[in-house]
Amino acid sequence: MTNRTISIPTAAPVSSFRCIACGVIRDNVSHDFRCTDCGDLLEIFYPAWHSEQMATNAPGFKALWQQRKTSRRAIDESGVWRFRELLPALRDWDQAVTLREGNTPLYNLPACARIAGVKQLYAKHQGMNPTGSFKDTGMTVAASFALQEGFRWVACASTGNTSASMAAYAARSAMRSLVVIPEGKVSWAKLSQALDYGALTCELRTDFDGCMRVLNEVVKQWPVCLLNSVNPYRIEGQKTGAIELLEQFDGQVPDHIIVPGGNLGNCSALGKALLELLDLGLITRTPKVSVIQAEGANTLLRSIREHGGKKLIPMQAQTAATAIRIGSPASWKKAVHVLQATGGTVEQASEIEIAQSKAEIGADGIGCEPASAVTLAGLKKLVKQEFVKQDDIVVLILTGHLLKDPEFTLKFHRGDLFKGTEYEQQAAALRLHQRAPVTLEPTADAVVKALEQAEKSTPPN
Ligand code: F0G
Repeated sequence: MTNRTISIPTAAPVSSFRCIACGVIRDNVSHDFRCTDCGDLLEIFYPAWHSEQMATNAPGFKALWQQRKTSRRAIDESGVWRFRELLPALRDWDQAVTLREGNTPLYNLPACARIAGVKQLYAKHQGMNPTGSFKDTGMTVAASFALQEGFRWVACASTGNTSASMAAYAARSAMRSLVVIPEGKVSWAKLSQALDYGALTCELRTDFDGCMRVLNEVVKQWPVCLLNSVNPYRIEGQKTGAIELLEQFDGQVPDHIIVPGGNLGNCSALGKALLELLDLGLITRTPKVSVIQAEGANTLLRSIREHGGKKLIPMQAQTAATAIRIGSPASWKKAVHVLQATGGTVEQASEIEIAQSKAEIGADGIGCEPASAVTLAGLKKLVKQEFVKQDDIVVLILTGHLLKDPEFTLKFHRGDLFKGTEYEQQAAALRLHQRAPVTLEPTADAVVKALEQAEKSTPPN
């Protein structure tokens, strides 16, 4: 039996850059990916999407994307490029720099659902990407375009995951990479990735926002392609997390997508995807996209609550969820647009709530890094506020793998995470979730005794 081939003209979708503030449209961009007229961020848009040809073709996309799952071509094996009808076109698709990113699982979270008070709770685990975070989905696109443009160097400022991802994609395509990170504020697991993938890694005595400022100066002086999420190609690749998620729901649209907020590129990307799918008639409504921030890095929340989303006041960010320790998020205007256009909201989670929620996700057998766990902590609040209803279908975007920050997890289970901090007293409530290793004599008796003890205690969930 031969496979029926779905023939849809896959001619390059023509794309341009559009400023999100003044709306000016350009075919080329400057090194900092900002509008040369007003300085705001650019986004990629596809003028031909409102053409008759697109209206004819779009309904066939879903079948085409399914069909590619059986192909052995590298760009079809990629869970990003498989959706290339909704991405900017490379001159040669087979030159895409891909680690077969995307294709991440959707898990149910039964125990977390009970804790939060909803009937159907899922995790889209973007930490199951090749370098362990959602960054790979955007990096494959941005690195491919950097290569196509002939760059020898790529660079990013990072709280750790962007740098790990960028260094890997650069190494795969023989580009050199410059990583600029805040000294002592990046988990060593993430740092070790950048080193192994051969990046020139510069630790600066400042925070993420300070690193970003320095790098913005560097890109003016050195021919390097900036691969932070101000690079709109990153956002295009990260859109595919939402497209894949809807495919996994078999066309059913969940009611809520809950995403952690740091530099606010990810929620911007997921929202852009949903709004484009709606525009193309591939869905008839969008889920509400809500953002959860750490209390100590809650600029978007303050912007929305205090300034109606019209102004953002940078802050000195502080949280043990180091991935989202960002006080001046670049994509805040894009995020505000997504919240407003999808009907989502913004919440925050305290340090204790983040730690507890992370352990709860772990106890469901899934696990994630601290920044991802803000989603469950936020969901609990949104249910209490009745913004999320008990019967709603909810998806948490888990952005990073459990092994991204082993130190946080070890300290948590050993009871050291909050020692000597202002949270020490409150942290007593976390004891029920802690599973410190027990040191025993090397005898079977000792281990059996430990089993008997464990039998008597209640499991965490
Ligand atoms: N979760 C994880 C695990 C992250 O690494 C990040 C961001 C976020 C959430 C927030 O996503 O920035 O798109 O709102 N990490 C960046 C980095 C900043 O440098 O790795 P965002």
